[in-house]
Amino acid sequence: MIFKWFDERLELKKFKDKFLTKTFPTHPTFLLGEIALFSFITLLITGIFLGFLYEPSSKFVSLFGAMVPSAYASVVRIDLLPMGMIIRRIHHWSAMIMIAAILAHLMRIYFTASYRKPREINWLVGLTLWSISMFAAFTGYLLPYSNFSVTATSIVYYTAKSVPWVGNWIARLLFAGDFPSDATVPRFFFMHVMLIPILLFSLIGLHMLILVKQKHTEPLSNKNKKEAQGGKRLIGIPIWPEQAVISISYYFFLLFIVALIATYIPLNPIETYGPPSPGAGTPALRPDWYFLIVYGFLKLIPGNLSFSIFGGQITPETIGGVIFPTLSILVFALIPFLDRAKEPVKYIENPLHRPFMTSFGIGGGVFLCMLVVAGYIDVLHITPNTMIIYTIVASVAAWVVPYLLLRLYNRKRNGGYNVKA
Ligand code: HEM
Repeated sequence: MIFKWFDERLELKKFKDKFLTKTFPTHPTFLLGEIALFSFITLLITGIFLGFLYEPSSKFVSLFGAMVPSAYASVVRIDLLPMGMIIRRIHHWSAMIMIAAILAHLMRIYFTASYRKPREINWLVGLTLWSISMFAAFTGYLLPYSNFSVTATSIVYYTAKSVPWVGNWIARLLFAGDFPSDATVPRFFFMHVMLIPILLFSLIGLHMLILVKQKHTEPLSNKNKKEAQGGKRLIGIPIWPEQAVISISYYFFLLFIVALIATYIPLNPIETYGPPSPGAGTPALRPDWYFLIVYGFLKLIPGNLSFSIFGGQITPETIGGVIFPTLSILVFALIPFLDRAKEPVKYIENPLHRPFMTSFGIGGGVFLCMLVVAGYIDVLHITPNTMIIYTIVASVAAWVVPYLLLRLYNRKRNGGYNVKA
């Protein structure tokens, strides 16, 4: 009855027949992108709750007799509400899970070569989503305006300033002037709750539209090949109702796991960190794991490495915080265009059949993990030079050993002939 009412006005049946009958692959690795999507939904819901109670200002107010920034005071008050602290923790944990899911999803796409023609555009849209998600996390860091928030954000402020030629301009744009200043919190609040969610929402929509238009890659099996009748049919289950039921169930299962983690594992306990206190020195804390890659890289660069090019000054902050992340994203962006496949690809590739790309991916992954470890060299009592040697040895070994093994495996598989890398 309700459906009929809407259908007469919006032609819902046409939409249902056209889109909801599309197939979705049943392979479990295709759920990784969905976990990123689910986490984004949880972030929006919990973010709306927090948005009603948060005060985007660093002006001082009284909290239990002490003068603290009002942003900090509002977050302490959220933590004191029934369910307030849990919802704030669910928000933070969902951000971490979203970025982990994005990376796992990216790895699935990379190792199975699903970025190949015609999916290069969606690979680039995905990379943009990843970068913006990291930026979302960074802007969220400052909002509680604790001692930790201000220390962590000031590292990025000086990194932004270190960009040659345009650094001061970028820093002023992002931080609304100098940092810390009273204009920064409202600027970050605007980016965190408005600009970034709109961008993410639109880009996820574009990502999904391209996916529906181009159709999924499919897991390759003999059964699939036979069923697909020479590539004319897609194998999977319809989006409605089968996939929708599975996805909704997974969503609530993920929510249950996140709520469980949030209940028992504290995150960003701002009451322990306290409000910003310039005289008390910087707290010895590490950023969340996904920022540790850049943080670790910065720790390995000699502090006196500084030179100038065309009047622009290159400092360790420029190398670690600007050049390294930009080059890494560029390498990721070039992957589909350096791949040899020129024909449109329908099936996913078996990673074992791609010795060069698979071992390159493993080596690259180990390199990034070693940078995370480098973020802990102070507690591990390792000197930067020793850590650089460990990082190079581990990354090269993680590249060369799988490469040789995979070449051997493929030579045997092909009856003694060489295979293409
Ligand atoms: C907010 C972040 C993201 C969300 C919510 C998201 C969501 C999804 C979903 C739900 C799918 C369909 C299921 C699947 O194939 O796993 C998908 C497919 C795809 N995604 Fe993402 N994704 C994100 C980021 C990325 C990133 C970082 C990349 C790569 C750089 C990427 C590249 C792709 C490609 C190429 C496909 C098509 C795969 C195929 O046809 O097999 N996505 N994405």
